Amino acid sequence: MTSSFHDLWSELEPLGRNDRTGGYERYAWTEVDLQLRAWFAERAAGMGLSVEYDRNGNQWAWWGTPGPGAVVTGSHLDSVPGGGAFDGPLGVVSALLAVADLQARGVRPGRSLAVVNFADEEGARFGIACIGSQLLTGVLDPERARRLTDADGTTLADAMSAAGADPAALGRDVRALDRIGVFVELHVEQGVHLNDVGAAIGVASAIWPHGRWRCSFHGEGNHAGTTRLADRRDPMLPFASTVLAARDVAERAGGVATFGKVLVRPGGTNVIASVVDAWLDSRAPDETTVRSLVDAVAGAAQEAADRHGVGFRLEEESWSPVVNFRSALRDHLVGVLGGVPVLPTGAGHDAGVLAAHVPTAMLFVRNPTGVSHSPAERAEVADCLAGVQALAAVLEDLVTS
Ligand code: GLV
Ligand code: MN
Ligand code: MN
Repeated sequence: MTSSFHDLWSELEPLGRNDRTGGYERYAWTEVDLQLRAWFAERAAGMGLSVEYDRNGNQWAWWGTPGPGAVVTGSHLDSVPGGGAFDGPLGVVSALLAVADLQARGVRPGRSLAVVNFADEEGARFGIACIGSQLLTGVLDPERARRLTDADGTTLADAMSAAGADPAALGRDVRALDRIGVFVELHVEQGVHLNDVGAAIGVASAIWPHGRWRCSFHGEGNHAGTTRLADRRDPMLPFASTVLAARDVAERAGGVATFGKVLVRPGGTNVIASVVDAWLDSRAPDETTVRSLVDAVAGAAQEAADRHGVGFRLEEESWSPVVNFRSALRDHLVGVLGGVPVLPTGAGHDAGVLAAHVPTAMLFVRNPTGVSHSPAERAEVADCLAGVQALAAVLEDLVTS
C-alpha cells in the first residue's frame, strides 16, 4: 500500500502549490480546482468507479449502483490561502486507497459505497466555508450562493459558468442527499491531542460552533503628511484596538478569536485609509460562549470607532452550530478500531454540515506538530497508512453490516 499512497500523493503534490512559499492555493472553480477534479475523476475511473457531479459541484465516485443507504467517505481538495498538503486531500486519497484495499481483498459490499470530493470546503474564494455540502443539504440559499463574490468581484455563478458548471442547478439536492446512508470523513488532526496521547488514529466527538463576521470601519481618506492627528478619522485605529480586544475577550471567555484577513482601502502608504474591512473568525466549545464573545468584540469595536469618529458595522457572514457526532456510531467505530481516543475539534468540516442530516463520523490522523492551514502542516507516512487501514476497516464494517 505504501507505493500507492506515494503515487497518489506525489501526483497531487504539485497541483496548486506556490513554489516560493510551499503553501497551497487551491481555490474553488479555478484552473487548479479543475485539475484537481480531473485528477479525482481519472483516479476513480481507473479503479472502476463511476464518477458524477451532483447539482452543487460535489464530485462522487461510486463503487456499485448509486442508491439509497450508501456508505460515503471523502473530504475536499481545495485549500485555504497558503494551506498545507493534508487538510482535505488526506481524506480523499485515503478514501480512494481504502476502497482499493476493499476491492483488492475481494470484499463484497452489501451496500453501495461512494467517495466524495466536496466543492469549496474552505471558503477561501467566496468567503463561506463548506459551500458544496451546505448547498447539498439546503443550509445555504442558492440565490445567496450565486451572488457571492471573490476578491476580484467575480460571482460564484460566473466562476462556475466559466468552469463549465451550471449555477442555475445549485440548491438542496434531495436525490444526492437521500443516497447517503452514512458518511465518514477522514482528516488530518489540526491539533496535537493524538500526538500527546501517542495514538495514530482518533475518532471525533464534536466540532466547536464557529462563525465568520465582517467588521467594517468607515473613516475618512486623507493625506498622511498634512493631516493633523487631531483632525483624522482613521479607521485603522479602532480596527487595531479591536484586534487587541478580541484576543483579550477570547482569553477570558475560553474561546478563540482571529482576524486573519484585512482589506484596507485605498491601501496607500501615504494615504490615511478610508475603509477597513476585517473578518473575525471566532469559535468556542459552546454556542453561548461564541455569541457572547462576538458581542463583546463588537462592543469594543463600536466604542473604539466612536472614539475616533469612525463608523462601524458588523455583519454575520456564516454561522456553524455546535456538532455532537452521534454517540452510537462514534462508539461503534471506536470499537471497530479496537479502542482509539475520542476528541473534539475546533476546525469546521463538511462532516459537520452533513451530521445534521445523516449519520456521520470522523476519523483523525495524528499530526506531529498540530500545525494546520500552513505549509508546515504534516502527517507521517506511517500514520497516513494507518489512517487508510482504519478507514478500510470502518468501511468494510459498514458495507457488510
Ligand atoms: C476549516 O478548516 C475551518 O475550520 O475553518
Ligand atoms: Mn481547513
Ligand atoms: Mn479540511
